[in-house]
Amino acid sequence: MARSGRDPVRVRSAQPRDLGEVIAIDAGITGMRKPEYWGEILQRYGSGRRRQRFFLVAEDASRVEGFAIGEVRDWEYGMPPCGWVFAIGVRPDARLEGIGTRLLEAICQGFRRLGVTQVRTILARDNPLILSFFRSQGMMAAPFIALEKDLEP
Ligand SMILES: CC(C)(COP(=O)(O)OP(=O)(O)OC[C@H]1O[C@@H](n2cnc3c(N)ncnc32)[C@H](O)[C@@H]1OP(=O)(O)O)[C@@H](O)C(=O)NCCC(=O)NCCS
Repeated sequence: MARSGRDPVRVRSAQPRDLGEVIAIDAGITGMRKPEYWGEILQRYGSGRRRQRFFLVAEDASRVEGFAIGEVRDWEYGMPPCGWVFAIGVRPDARLEGIGTRLLEAICQGFRRLGVTQVRTILARDNPLILSFFRSQGMMAAPFIALEKDLEP
């Protein structure tokens, strides 16, 4: 749904001044404040530091409303370069206004500019919200499976 009756939203690269708000949005989603992690993400992905990496925020006149992070990965598992989205989050009171869609579109636009023709993500099976969102964006089950195991100490 388009955002109506509220400030317009602009999507841009994340800057150091955004970090506090991004940390708070993420803490609201995951239940954990992770300032060190986010500082490192900003170092690695922020402000267009590397062409293939994207750390975007959506802001209106008063605050950061959401963020998205992704990158192009080359020949991972022998597959052609592909865009990966590995985090997206929108403030609870700003959801269902099209901000997540804007963020994903912006990141996909960055991937397209690099000549990439496919975007992927991975998500928890028990998170129907994020699944509904990605499905609404036309993303479908990929022909891969994720495997994991616990490592002995
Ligand atoms: C997923 C998320 C980013 C969506 O952001 P958003 O700004 O609300 O998304 P949009 O307004 O662009 O919604 C686009 C579509 O997604 C789907 N969608 C979004 N929220 C939904 C919900 N609560 N229930 C069902 N479908 C939903 C709808 O199809 C929606 O289109 P519609 O409004 O025309 O029905 C946001 O809900 C969020 O931050 N959730 C928590 C994220 C999370 O769990 N992250 C952990 C893994 S990184």
